[in-house]
Amino acid sequence: MTSVVILISGRGSNMASLLDATASGALPVRIVGVLSNRPDAQGLQTAAAHGVLTEVVDHRLFAEREAFDAALAETIDRLAPDLVVLAGFMRILGDRFVRRYEGRLINIHPSLLPAFPGLHTHRRALAEGVRIHGCTVHFVTPDLDHGPVIVQAAVPVLDQDDEASLAARVLVQEHQIYLLAVRWFAEGRLRLRDGRVRLDAPQDDSGRLIVPQSPLG
Ligand code: GRF
Repeated sequence: MTSVVILISGRGSNMASLLDATASGALPVRIVGVLSNRPDAQGLQTAAAHGVLTEVVDHRLFAEREAFDAALAETIDRLAPDLVVLAGFMRILGDRFVRRYEGRLINIHPSLLPAFPGLHTHRRALAEGVRIHGCTVHFVTPDLDHGPVIVQAAVPVLDQDDEASLAARVLVQEHQIYLLAVRWFAEGRLRLRDGRVRLDAPQDDSGRLIVPQSPLG
């Protein structure tokens, strides 16, 4: 069975939804560890409550980013996962780290990339007045919040939206598409080849954009 390590920095709701899906049998993977760069990440408690091994690699203990990346990679490699899932992991990872896990390192970002890389995506989407916002799961490349797109979900921006309401509606979709992407990987249908995402049938390409039926979906 595909083994997965999840990296978090905070709340861990994406992690929790993956853990719930494995517990219910909806997601055929084994989550072998949850790692955080912050000892106070709320998600660590959730993971421990699920009986999953947790470890902290505190970035503040490392003067250089390369040393942090190396310690993180060592911790990951001890768990020998097939897939590394970034779920609200708030550290920038260096080229060497990213290359080490090429094709098996994925991230979720709360915007329709390539729009709004970086922070405060919902605030920026509202400020720009975009009518369609959303979230993206992508393979990680050395460029921050870039990389071949695996699946996206579109979320309409409503006139009455504020940052919190928009974030909440996007988060519902984040949980859906992360589950999908991890399942596709576990089923051996998802691959990175020549820098592009390949998804084997029966899922066709249209299945890689999720458009919820209801605007409040
Ligand atoms: C999510 O919006 C994710 O897309 C972004 O950080 C947030 C993390 O939320 N990268 P959580 O920790 O999964 O609840």
